Formats: sequence, C-alpha cells, structure tokens
Amino acid sequence: MCGIIGYSGTRQASPILLASLKRLEYRGYDSCGMALLNGNKVIDVKKGTGRIEEVNGKVDFLSLSGKVGIAHTRWATHGNVTMENAHPFTSCDQKYALIHNGILENYVELKKQLIEKGHHFNSTTDTEVLVHLIEENMKQAKDLIDAIKKTSEQAEGAFTFLLLSQDSGEIYCFRKDSPLIIGVGNNEFFASSDITSFLEYTNKAIILENYELAILNDECKIYDLVAEKEIEKDISIIEWTAEQATKTGYPHFMLKEIVEEVEVSKHALDQDPIKLAGIVKLLHQAKNVYFLGSGTSYRACLIASIYFAKFTHRNFMPILGSEFKTYQNLFDNETVLFAISQSGETADVLEGIRIAKSKGSKVISLVNVMGSTIMRESDQYLTLNAGPEIAVASTKAFTSQVIILVLLAFALNNQLSEGKDQLNEVIDQFEIIIKQSDFIKELSKKVLNKQNLFLIGRGVAFPVAMEGELKIKEIAYIHADALAGGELKHHTLALIEPGISCIALVPNDETKDDMINNIMQIKARGGIITGISSEKLDIFDHYISLGKVALEPIAMIPILQLIAYHLSVLRGNDPDFPRNLAKSVTVL
Ligand code: AGP
Ligand code: GLU
Repeated sequence: MCGIIGYSGTRQASPILLASLKRLEYRGYDSCGMALLNGNKVIDVKKGTGRIEEVNGKVDFLSLSGKVGIAHTRWATHGNVTMENAHPFTSCDQKYALIHNGILENYVELKKQLIEKGHHFNSTTDTEVLVHLIEENMKQAKDLIDAIKKTSEQAEGAFTFLLLSQDSGEIYCFRKDSPLIIGVGNNEFFASSDITSFLEYTNKAIILENYELAILNDECKIYDLVAEKEIEKDISIIEWTAEQATKTGYPHFMLKEIVEEVEVSKHALDQDPIKLAGIVKLLHQAKNVYFLGSGTSYRACLIASIYFAKFTHRNFMPILGSEFKTYQNLFDNETVLFAISQSGETADVLEGIRIAKSKGSKVISLVNVMGSTIMRESDQYLTLNAGPEIAVASTKAFTSQVIILVLLAFALNNQLSEGKDQLNEVIDQFEIIIKQSDFIKELSKKVLNKQNLFLIGRGVAFPVAMEGELKIKEIAYIHADALAGGELKHHTLALIEPGISCIALVPNDETKDDMINNIMQIKARGGIITGISSEKLDIFDHYISLGKVALEPIAMIPILQLIAYHLSVLRGNDPDFPRNLAKSVTVL
C-alpha cells in the first residue's frame, strides 16, 4: 500500500522526488523517506514519521543533493510507525538503499538466517530483510541482477522494490505483485507505483510485469528474471493529464472529484459498443455470474446485482473481495467472475480473480486505472474513463461504476438506448445536486454533525445508504449505520431515542409506502428525519430535494458524498487522507 518513486536523470533528484512523493501520498502517509546518491558517491538517507510536509519540515529533503534517488511514503503493515521503520533501509555496508511496496511473508525466517550470518537490523519491518538478503546474495552472485534473481526465489509474498546501488549509481526496479511503472522522459527515467506521480514530467510509460527488473541510469534496460534475458517492452502513451491529478483551485481532491461526476459519468456512458457487446454476450452465455469488489466497489456490486435481478431476472450474486475464498467452490468453466475495482490493484479482488481463473472461469473487470494488474489479468475489461481519482474516498469512480453496471443490466435486457436515456437523466440530476453543496453543508452543520447517524433505504436505496454510511465513517469519523428500512423493527429500533439523527432515502418507487412506515417508527421514538426524496413529505424534519427520475436512488449518491465531505471538513479532518487508510489496498 506504500508509494514508491525513483528518479535517474540529469536534474537534481530531490525536488522531483518530493513533488512525486506528494502525489503518491494517498497510497500511505504514516511516514516517509528519501535516499540520494550524492556527488561523493555516498548514499544519504533522510526519513521520519508523519505526513510528507511535516517530515520535510523536520528533515529538509531538498537538502539532499544528487541526480539519482528513491523515495517512499509508507502505510505500515509490519512494524510500528516509527522513524526506524520508515523506508529506505540500507545494507550493512551502506552500498544499497531499498524501498518496498508489499508484504514479505517469510521475513521472520529469512531475518533469523541473516542475523546468524552477522547482519545487523535497525527496524522491525519485513522490508529491511530484502536489502540484507540482496547484500548477502551478492557474496556469491556474478552481479546485482543475479543477486536480485536469487532473492526473488527466496522471498515469498508481494515485494515490489527499488534498490539504489552506490557502486553503479543505478536504480534496480523489481516487480512482484504490487504495481511498478517506468516513466520514460527526455534523458531521465522514473519508476513509480503510480503513473500520476510522474505525469508532470512524462506521459510515456512502461508497465512492468511480475519478475521483470528494470535498471535505470542514463538508459533503461529491462530483464525478464525468469527467462534470464534482456527484453524489449512497448512504451504506452498515457492519456491522463497532469492537471487532472491536481486540485485546480478546489480545497480538496474529494470535492473536485465529486464536482467532476457530471463530466465523468458522461464519459462512463460512452463505452466502446463492440466491447460492450462482447461482455453482454459473455454474460448471456454464462451459467452463473458473480460480482466481486471491496469497500465502495462492493457497494457498486450490490447495486448492480439488484438492477440485474430487476431487469434481467437473473441472480448475479455480489461477493466481498476478502470473502472470496468462502465461495470458491461456486467457480467452474461455465462461470463468469465480474470484478469491480477503481485501482485495479486491490489484493483481495486479485486473489479471487486468480483462484477463479485456476478453476477455468472467465474474468471480466471494470477498472479505472489503465494497465492495472486486474485489467491485465482479465479476459475482457471495460474502463471507467473517470480520470485519476486521488482522494482516498472513492466518489467519481463509484458513480461511474454504477452507471456502467446499470447500463450493462439494460443492455442484457436489450434496452441499451432506454438505459442511456435514463442514465442521462440521472447525470442531469448530479449537476443540480452539486449546486446544492452549500445547502447540504449548512444542514450537515446544524442537523447531522452528531456522534451517531442512521441511514435507511429499501431496494436499490439500501446499498446506496450503505455507501453513504461507508463514506461518513471513512472521512468524518462518525459512527454511522445503514439499514434496510424494514430491518429496523428487528433490532436497531432499540437505539432510537429522542434527538437521534436519521437520513431516510425515499425514492418515488415501489419502496416509498414501506419507507414511510419505517420513518414513522423512528419518529414515534423521537428520531429526527432528514429526508432525501423528489417529494417533500410532511414527515421529514429536514429535506434535501432532487428531481423525479426513473433511477432516483442512483441520483442520490452525490448527496451522501457531499454530506460525508462537509461533515469531515466541519470536524477538522482532511477528507483526502483519512486516518489509517490508503487508496490502493495491495495487501491481503
Ligand atoms: C472507498 O471510499 C474506499 N477508500 C475503499 O473502500 C475502496 O473502495 C476499496 O479499497 C476498493 O478499492 P478499489 O476500487 O480500488 O478496488
Ligand atoms: N511491509 C512494508 C512495511 O510495513 C510495506 C508496506 C506496504 O507496502 O503496504 O513497511
């Protein structure tokens, strides 16, 4: 889940690495560090705990001098958040500095062996083992390539790393199970977990596969360590722009990305008809289809599953990424796994894809990040066309996922153009809702800024409420609970007492009358209702309006995102960087 960046070129590396590191901060932000090879051919390391600005204020990364270096922003998996555990780590002889993204599963055993051989460790991380293992393997190896190959055979787990070598002044960039992309500039190279971190300097990229090693100095050589040979790889031109990855005047990426939902949803609808038809065919032919996703993407699966049931009368069961193994016996060669992921790197989902494929199932994916692992490992894929999503809280990617999945449900029922019309009406509503942001902010301040919040909805509005709950918890740190309206009387009504705040999603559809009953049950116990609906009902204490459209529950999504955003800011949080979380969850 960490962010890694390397630079080798003709300019001073530290300002470039620092700027890139800030763009990677969404991947992890409990500590960070940088290592540069200085003019005297010595590796200098600076690191510390906290957000990048904070650490930079203490250690001054820009005081590091040199034209080749590596930098890391951490989301700790093994070892507490301490200065000693921040990356980079150096070998005993100080010849190598290393940063890592992933988890080295057999590090305890390897560390024991290395200590017996005389290696001294400064941290309690799994990562530090890698640099000592490479140092140890160098004793027998003919060169660093050989030592890294041997290391890759001994290590288990996910271990994508960048190694800065003092002797050669090169960066060795190795990929295993976490993303790694090489940026090709003018007389300079980058190596990073994410394209957006170097997009300001180049849009030319080489996507590394597992067990590939790129060596960067004044040129870039790539080796396939399994085939033991140098290889040529295509350079892709990345369509995203650096501007898309900046805040462009908005106080937070999250708000910018909510505002972008109108444009982005239109792009989402604009799918290649041939690809869409290919996927529809596969879904038609499959005996069973299962959705797979985590967090917000799982909520998109839940919504999709309801629409597929409604329109096509088929059961496309949604499975949580982390629960895949429980259901693995359902997969065979007549089954399709439909994986949903913004990042295309989520480890839980990727694990499910690999198991499903090993059982002969076909995999379709819906991803945002081009060239991501999930996209590349799928038999067929669609892209969200949402542009880079930087805020940890997923917003525009989620609306795009929902739009495309609902479009597919219509398409499977031979109603593609009707689907487009109905979804365009939803997009028009997004525009109107976003203009109500100040009103939603006021209401959030006066009514919803409580320690507990309840959200209720029925039908499609239930998973929409669940997504609202997720967002409120994730960035506002308020305990929220989403319920199907009819479930209240079975348990949670026990928690309703005078003054408790409840958000009720009341679309103008078959769920409306039952929702009114559920709202009355809350009001009878003194609960305060904020209704979201196209109709202002008397039973609402407060009201957020939207227009009457056929797919009304989907149109409600940005309202809940704005509530979460404003609650987060009102409570003094940074919505872009929620505590303990990171954008791309590449660990199990
Ligand atoms: C959403 O706001 C979260 N940050 C998180 O739940 C996210 O949706 C989840 O980790 C899945 O990510 P993915 O879409 O990149 O697979
Ligand atoms: N396991 C490493 C650490 O704890 C890297 C974590 C990651 O990439 O998420 O520092």
